[in-house]
Amino acid sequence: MSADFAAPRGIPDYFPPNSADFRRVRDTLTDAARLAGYGHIELPIFEDTALFARGVGESTDVVSKEMYTFADRGDRSVTLRPEGTAGVMRAVIQHGLDRGQLPVKLCYAGPFFRYEKPQTGRYRQLQQVGVEAIGVDDPALDAEVIAIADEGYRRLGLSGFRLEITSLGDNESRGPYREALQEFLFGLDLDEPTRKRAEINPLRVLDDKRPEVKAATAEAPLLIDFLSDEARTHFDLVLTNLKRLGVPYELNPRLVRGLDYYTKTTFEFVHDGLGAQSGIGGGGRYDGLMKQIGGKQDLSGIGFGLGVDRTMLAMEAEGVAHADVARCQVFGVPLGADAKAELVGVAGRLRAAGISVDLAYGDRGLKGAMKAADRSGARLALVLGDRELEERRIEVKDLSNGEQHALSLDGLIEEVARLLG
Ligand code: HAM
Repeated sequence: MSADFAAPRGIPDYFPPNSADFRRVRDTLTDAARLAGYGHIELPIFEDTALFARGVGESTDVVSKEMYTFADRGDRSVTLRPEGTAGVMRAVIQHGLDRGQLPVKLCYAGPFFRYEKPQTGRYRQLQQVGVEAIGVDDPALDAEVIAIADEGYRRLGLSGFRLEITSLGDNESRGPYREALQEFLFGLDLDEPTRKRAEINPLRVLDDKRPEVKAATAEAPLLIDFLSDEARTHFDLVLTNLKRLGVPYELNPRLVRGLDYYTKTTFEFVHDGLGAQSGIGGGGRYDGLMKQIGGKQDLSGIGFGLGVDRTMLAMEAEGVAHADVARCQVFGVPLGADAKAELVGVAGRLRAAGISVDLAYGDRGLKGAMKAADRSGARLALVLGDRELEERRIEVKDLSNGEQHALSLDGLIEEVARLLG
């Protein structure tokens, strides 16, 4: 019989044992950011639709095809956040964080929403850990951001990934490049929507996944050959700093990101064990975003978004996932109603002392309860019958070696703590 409800299509649930890895990925990646001085920011799950339209770019797939947009009860158009950078920038402007010490360094983790075609590694609710460093345009900062991601992945035990990097240049580089690229694209036999794209945002055409378009644009001019002197120097310094930090990279001048705000340094972490959805994280510098969404200043920023879901898949592919059930240190086995009442209190006191405890609920009898204790993976079983209770003692069994001791119920907490070492 099929159940009445299932999670919406493309929306994953995270439950034991794999949810342990979900937390590990999220915590390890955010810890790597904290080690470089990034403070936590918690942002709304939905925002004004115009923030994403203007920030991320109308011509991107993310905005034009994938947003979860709806009218709220006050008839305002709101959108479930498809990414984090625009919201961070909005918060920085709204709260005047850009008037304090620069760069503003922020880190976030949580769900994002894109109405994409679901498949392994591509979900409609996806989880990211992100950082943004806003207010200073220093190539050493770009390298820092990239090194945080690299370090985070390595701490998770991953090694089968590579960093692809390029520069998308500054305004000065982009004008001449845009002209050259459009001239090239208008010389091709493109369908009408693609031609329109070439007019509005020619770079997007290079992100087209259709094999025929890919083949036709294989010889397109590359932005990296049009970099201004300043953008060139900036990029060279990013690479020099990456070397200093021991972060290996591969130049990929064809790298195209799915969001419009990128300028200068742009990068992606790619894992080879994942098939089509191989991007485990990506980011870059964004020079015009603050102005674009109404900031009075025009400060540059740099950041990344790392995909938690795909990082988990990468760990599985490399055999470094540690799916694990939440184990308790102690498992209580009550034999009788009075014993259970007593053990409930003991469990509470043990937990207050920082010791994790589970109990055999549901009156299973000694055999069933001992089986549950063995399966629980706990170190110690506390077995209490009504007769022992009368004598104020309790059986403690070390499940790792079968040793058994009778202990006094009084002073039990200290004794259990001692046995656990
Ligand atoms: P993004 O490349 O769109 O960048 O997303 C970052 C990462 O999120 C991707 O590399 C991928 O691992 C994961 N991801 C994206 N879409 C999905 C999906 N449908 N299912 C599973 N995982 C997914 C951004 O979002 C930028 N805000 C990153 C950034 C921050 N740039 C500068 N600052």
